[in-house]
Amino acid sequence: MGRVTGKKAFITGGAQGLGAASGMMLAKEGALVTLADINEAGAKSVADQINAVYPGKAFSVALDVTSEEEWKEALAYANDKMDGINVLFNNAGIGGGSTVEETDFATFKRVQEVDVDSVFLGCKYAIPYMVKHAPGSIINTSSIAGLIAGHNMAAYNAAKAGVWLLSKSVALHCAKKGYRIRSNSIHPTFIDTPILDGMTRHNLAKDDLVAKLAKQVPLGVIGEPDDVAYAVLYLASDESKFMTGAELKLDGGISAM
Ligand code: NAI
Repeated sequence: MGRVTGKKAFITGGAQGLGAASGMMLAKEGALVTLADINEAGAKSVADQINAVYPGKAFSVALDVTSEEEWKEALAYANDKMDGINVLFNNAGIGGGSTVEETDFATFKRVQEVDVDSVFLGCKYAIPYMVKHAPGSIINTSSIAGLIAGHNMAAYNAAKAGVWLLSKSVALHCAKKGYRIRSNSIHPTFIDTPILDGMTRHNLAKDDLVAKLAKQVPLGVIGEPDDVAYAVLYLASDESKFMTGAELKLDGGISAM
């Protein structure tokens, strides 16, 4: 028996980075996983990689997390393929913008749409499936930037802070309804995924960027995708059955300062 045998997980942003690593981790521990991404080919490729190691465990589906209609279709597809859904990992997200003065309104709205509106839509439309296959767990990706602000992260701070408290509202709603669905947020700091490539645009080589970011972390290193995937595994499993409405920081000590 794996730690999440019998779980059926829907993972957004599953084509790479933290979504892909978590999909592999959950499948390794016995879950079925559906990887949803706007990058449909990427999600399929990750599903193929998982199935090569854990046959029959992974599915993929196209999903733009900002589209209400696509959410309905993708969840119905996953529910059909896995015969239910009881874990929702709202992981897809983007960075973008700078200070409040330098961020244009369109960018601000786009970051809210992808990073926090998507979490609302995912919870709203997955809960009815999850109720039928309870106990269930919702894991929403905020960021350490959802708890601690930066002068040049206006849009991202706003969106990720929204994810933090939205997760608690969902937790209380599900508890009040007696759904046996938990909802928690995770708060990583810098993790070595392709999202960091977007930060190398100022002619800083990847190694130099990683070294620069690591200096900001008390542990002296940035995180690896599996540092997050292990947290997702715990929250997806019934080992965390008494944990809801909480935030799990994966920040190498940054928020302790
Ligand atoms: P990534 O950029 O490697 O992967 C993000 C995935 O989301 C990609 O596969 C992309 O195609 C997908 N995506 C983007 N927009 C989408 C949309 N509209 N619909 C569906 N899929 C979409 O990023 P990473 O590092 O894996 O990040 C995952 C989550 O973790 C994000 O929410 C990010 O904000 C958060 N995070 C990441 C940190 C890091 O340092 N890597 C730190 C803190 C939070």
